Amino acid sequence: MTVVRFCLIEGDGIGPEVSRATLRVLEAVSKRFGIGFEPVLCEAGDEAAKRRGSPLPEETLRKAKEIGIVLKGPVGETAGEVVTVLRRELGTYAAIRPAKTLPGVSPRCGKPLDVVIVRELLEGVYVQTEYVDVVSNSFAVALRVASARETERVARLAARIARGRRGIVSIIHKANVLHGTCGLFRDVAKRVLEEEGVVVEEYYVDAAAALLVRTPERFDVMLTPNLFGDILSDLAAELAGSLGLSPSANVGDKTGIFEPVHGAAFDIAGMGIANPTAMMLAAAMMLDWLGYRDAARAIEKAIEDALASGARTPDLGGNLKTMEFAEEVAKRIEAGNA
Ligand code: IPM
Ligand code: MN
Repeated sequence: MTVVRFCLIEGDGIGPEVSRATLRVLEAVSKRFGIGFEPVLCEAGDEAAKRRGSPLPEETLRKAKEIGIVLKGPVGETAGEVVTVLRRELGTYAAIRPAKTLPGVSPRCGKPLDVVIVRELLEGVYVQTEYVDVVSNSFAVALRVASARETERVARLAARIARGRRGIVSIIHKANVLHGTCGLFRDVAKRVLEEEGVVVEEYYVDAAAALLVRTPERFDVMLTPNLFGDILSDLAAELAGSLGLSPSANVGDKTGIFEPVHGAAFDIAGMGIANPTAMMLAAAMMLDWLGYRDAARAIEKAIEDALASGARTPDLGGNLKTMEFAEEVAKRIEAGNA
């Protein structure tokens, strides 16, 4: 039996609950497809900061780098310190964020969404290099980085994803103001995408936000710089139905961090009512990325079928608990009809 070894960061708030639900689904995948899973529990986040003195303890970073694959729940206040470092250290250069309206879920803008945001993940203002004038304390400067190398590889990935879909990549930028950084991103992306033979479009980020609400069907794959992708992926996820349903795959050449887009939801933590869909879909993206396409598709299909049959957690107007929803999904996978 092949064994998939990955770091499991349960995270804060509802993190441990949605992680448990996701492990139940992986157990079902194991039974049906004969894939073994070996989650290596790693601490990170607010709780880790309290217990270990750092939101990303050395040991966690070491294991994450050694194993290379991380399935991560939502992290609370310290999320910024955990994910940005993990992404840099593991070299995950792109975030793949599908925003798709699931069966029986109402899209927020009246139209179903089916877009994938491919977000550059290592550069832009996320290099976190800022200067505050220490004399006056009255101005600050942030560095923004755009390189041809990173833009090229994230564009190639966007093209690959688009080829499996409608073949359109929309470059999102603000090159009318940021001639240097956004100009380079746009120009390099355009050249690479044309080379790759996909249909290339370009939009200013503000117009893209408006059009995503008005005519989402025009978009297939949106290729964005780091910060624009951060913002647009929340917008797209919410428009599709709910931020609570959207997964993200942060991928590098040989590494991957898979996580829900949503946060730790402390207001409902410990109540057993969190919707585990996003984390389950993140696990599906992990399997897909590792080449277990059938298993990934089975998780997606089981979630779709469960939702279509009316199985819902309270955030979607239902009354199922987190683990009850997990059972609905798991039993469909085990039965082999998902
Ligand atoms: C995300 C998050 C992170 C980001 C935060 C927690 C640093 O919002 O994954 O979208 O900005 O990338
Ligand atoms: Mn975000």
